[in-house]
Amino acid sequence: MVRKLPIAIKSSWKFTYFMCGIVGYIGKQKAAPLILEGLKRLEYRGYDSAGIAVFQDGSFDIAKKVGRVSALEKEVPRYRLVGTCGMGHTRWATHGSITDANAHPHLSYDGKVALTHNGVIENYASIKKFLITKGHTFRSETDTEVLCNLIAYHYAKQAGLAGENRFVTAVRKSLHHTQGTYGIVAMNVDAPGELVTARKGSPLVFGIGEGESLVASDVSAIVSRTQNVVYLKNGEIAHLTLKNFSITTLDADEVSPVIDRVCWSIVSAELGAYHHFMEKEIFEQPAALKNTMRGRFSEDGSTALFGGLNVTANEFSGIERLMFCACGTALHACLVTEHLIESFARIPVECDYASEFRYRNAPLARNTLFFVMSQSGETIDTLAAMREAKRKGYRVLAINNVVGSSIAREADGGIYQHVGPEIGVASTKAFTSQLLLGAMLALYLARMRDMSFGSGVRYVEALKGAPDLVRKVLEQAPHIKKIAQRFAHSTDMLFLGRMSLFHIALEGALKLKETSYLHAEGYPAAEMKHGPIALISETCPSVFFAPAGEIFNKIVSSMQEIKARRGPIIAILSEGGELPPGLADEVIIIPECHEAVLPIVASVPVQLLSYYIAAERGCDIDKPRNLAKSVTVE
Ligand code: G6P
Repeated sequence: MVRKLPIAIKSSWKFTYFMCGIVGYIGKQKAAPLILEGLKRLEYRGYDSAGIAVFQDGSFDIAKKVGRVSALEKEVPRYRLVGTCGMGHTRWATHGSITDANAHPHLSYDGKVALTHNGVIENYASIKKFLITKGHTFRSETDTEVLCNLIAYHYAKQAGLAGENRFVTAVRKSLHHTQGTYGIVAMNVDAPGELVTARKGSPLVFGIGEGESLVASDVSAIVSRTQNVVYLKNGEIAHLTLKNFSITTLDADEVSPVIDRVCWSIVSAELGAYHHFMEKEIFEQPAALKNTMRGRFSEDGSTALFGGLNVTANEFSGIERLMFCACGTALHACLVTEHLIESFARIPVECDYASEFRYRNAPLARNTLFFVMSQSGETIDTLAAMREAKRKGYRVLAINNVVGSSIAREADGGIYQHVGPEIGVASTKAFTSQLLLGAMLALYLARMRDMSFGSGVRYVEALKGAPDLVRKVLEQAPHIKKIAQRFAHSTDMLFLGRMSLFHIALEGALKLKETSYLHAEGYPAAEMKHGPIALISETCPSVFFAPAGEIFNKIVSSMQEIKARRGPIIAILSEGGELPPGLADEVIIIPECHEAVLPIVASVPVQLLSYYIAAERGCDIDKPRNLAKSVTVE
């Protein structure tokens, strides 16, 4: 059946990556402003230092600065940086402290090679020892500088080879000697107007524009220049010149490139009239949900259709269990999906943190279908959990937003979210899109089992109505903003819900913590009296999800328990829902809706609440301290 598919294990790397973003440019324009623009789009990958190297007048001009890309930008006028070939880097340090010297790009001791790197060279210490015996000197504590010097060493040794071959060969030989992971862009002083890029582990994509080429850690950094891109595969080296490009493997075999077309434009990665990407992405949700659903319902309107799962209906009907793994917000979407699949399709589902699953050697039942969810498709723990499941012989499917991501490429099949780039570090539109796909998956599985045609049609109609219901909640933004202003300086906040909305309570608390640094906890409403009730005070409000339904009265009882202890209450009620007078301090109304749509609709008020509280507290909403959008380090 579905288990025991012959799956090739592609590697057994250690998954310890630097996060970081890389951008490279060759063309006719001045490279520096374009690289800085690209780096700003990659800041979600890390933002503790940044640097840029531009080739000009026979050498590299390099500027590096601790802090955000904006700090580097202020530094740039002190340098000339007028060349048309260069590269930049934004760093999230895990190895080597946060200093200007450790920031990338690095330069070899002889000034011949410049390098930016995302990853970790595990055997850098022994290489460094060897290079010191050859007279190389080092200015930083980084493994990247070691790799840079190793390339310079091999370059010097290839003196007999002609120009471009010589540098690519030096890079190839150096990578053969390295253990670990890398995404690199390298430049050589003897070959101005050329970039060499290679990857093993860390993602890299290059774009072919009009008389110019760009390379970056992800397409958002290059899509303003070109939509024609090539995703580099593990173990490949690309050599980019002004006129053309070529790809070879580490063994020097030629590779025929596949040019993909990015189907979103730069407008979707720009702020427009909004103050923050988080705000923009919250308000984009009606359109994002429509895009997620587009073309994914059967003609008779009674079930969902998924083109890319690569699992036949017959195989699907033999599935006895599902397992979902993810991290952060995506895990909350998995938990809601578990609730919906179990309640509508009656198939047992298990969810786990990807970081736990990868190490706990969980026994998986036969006929289990394994899913991972990831907005970025690059989260290292999710990728590792997926590889672990594949190693055990399971078929793994992915729900993923970023097209061509590592997870998308390695999965046996999957569903793309189609919500466009999500730039705010706190996930919003990608989350509700994952909830929607979870609900559609539940429908698909349920219709293969006991759900009737009529119930299927009603379910589909409900899902189609979700964007309008979300829009209705968004209309309440000014009201939610006032509530946020009232409670922005609380000491703690509880988010309480039951059934599927318990998981939205978890997400509400996570969103608030991430964006506003305010301590918050999500709890099952009834469980609250087994611990969190001790936190209750006049400065610890509770956000209650109290939709219409069979457990409404139970939730009202939990509210009474909080009120009796002077805890302020923000109640999220369905239209027509009534509470005893004076029980809630603030009320937010959401439209009454189908059980499959409720988690989506209920997410919006808590997204807005977190956003406005963070704004009121003056937080760096799109780049919260210590966080990164895509956690590619273990
Ligand atoms: C980080 C982000 C979260 C995100 C999580 C998983 O922690 O800050 O917003 O939910 O990673 O990311 P993924 O890309 O795998 O969905």
